[in-house]
Amino acid sequence: TSRFAQFKLVLLGESAVGKSSIVHRFVKNTFDELRESTIGAAFLTQTITIPETDTTIKFEIWDTAGQERYKSLAPMYYRNANAALCVYDITSRVSFNRAQDWIKELRKQAPEGIVIALVGNKSDLSDNREVELSEVEEYVEQYNSEATGGGSTIIIAECSAKTGDGVLEVFNRIGRALPVE
Ligand code: GTP
Ligand code: MG
Repeated sequence: TSRFAQFKLVLLGESAVGKSSIVHRFVKNTFDELRESTIGAAFLTQTITIPETDTTIKFEIWDTAGQERYKSLAPMYYRNANAALCVYDITSRVSFNRAQDWIKELRKQAPEGIVIALVGNKSDLSDNREVELSEVEEYVEQYNSEATGGGSTIIIAECSAKTGDGVLEVFNRIGRALPVE
């Protein structure tokens, strides 16, 4: 028998890393070279199916604004989230540091058991890469070893909202990690 579940997902990360672009690729399968910076937050939904478990998952997506002046709004969106995408740009070390700050904040303030994905976007720009996957793995290994009892592990992924590479996979992996009754 098929099952249905609904989850709240929030995107966090520095401005211009491509949060809105990832969401638009996932929801509408489009890409905009000149996307405008998000004001406040945007809400979109998208449904996926997981064939192995015959489960349909509806994501209620909060795409937050990365600009510093909106930072204080973020807790409103992650407070009751089931999953979070902490997004960085693989060509920006600063944005990776910022994504780590978000993970620290989620660990302190977000609901226990929240599924976290650390997502490196703009994989199409790998010629200008500043963040290696190996150091992301090292960071997450360290994080996971410190997470005490029942702390959820972090999903690592790279994608390109521009080409679409790896985008659906991120949401599929999150869907598989979420608990369905
Ligand atoms: P805020 O809303 O300000 O927090 O930014 P954001 O994280 O939502 O970034 P947005 O999606 O607006 O993208 C910022 C810029 O990066 C835009 O010009 C996009 O076209 C570009 N961009 C987004 N994703 C990619 C990608 O995968 N590859 C490349 N080359 N450019 C991208
Ligand atoms: Mg945006």
